[in-house]
Amino acid sequence: MHPDIERIVFSEEEIRARVAELGAQITEDFAPAVARGEQIVLVSVLRGAAMFMADLAREIKLPLAMDYMVVSSYGNATTSSGEIRILKDMSEATEGKHVIIAEDVIDSGLTLSYLLRLFEHRAAASVTVCALLKKNVKGQVHVPVRYLGFTCPTEFVVGYGLDYAERYRNLPYIGVLKPEVYS
Ligand code: IMP
Ligand code: MG
Repeated sequence: MHPDIERIVFSEEEIRARVAELGAQITEDFAPAVARGEQIVLVSVLRGAAMFMADLAREIKLPLAMDYMVVSSYGNATTSSGEIRILKDMSEATEGKHVIIAEDVIDSGLTLSYLLRLFEHRAAASVTVCALLKKNVKGQVHVPVRYLGFTCPTEFVVGYGLDYAERYRNLPYIGVLKPEVYS
């Protein structure tokens, strides 16, 4: 285990198994749409969700496109600023497509509720959220999550794409940092 990690919350094996289940469920649910000739686009919010989406994509046994957005709601701090900005939008139009948003973690819910509102104006065939983690925090904005990996403790976690000040994204598990790392 990395010396800055206090404890592992979700192990590499647990994550792999859960992502496989999510992919199988999405495959089952979207197979009829694909059979009708409709298109799926998997979208991730960089950078935290990139690893999750890469693994999820390989577990969805259907043709799909992959696209990326960069949205900012956090600086290098561990609490939400409440301010969301689009730094990079999707490369392809979403019109008529089934959009599946792969998100790393829902905390305040501000990022996803903003994105969902945005997609309402973009005439997608459907918009679905697949989040790896969701924290049960007070005052969280309600976000309809169709696919959820795990409920996450309301602590700041890192690994499997999640960072603290751009570090720890490449840890293969999700864990809690030792308090002295913040101070
Ligand atoms: P929300 O808008 O507050 O739901 O924040 C979602 C974004 O904040 C996520 O996509 C992450 O980038 C970041 N975030 C929230 N909680 C954590 C955490 O525990 N570790 C790392 N990043 C987090
Ligand atoms: Mg982040």
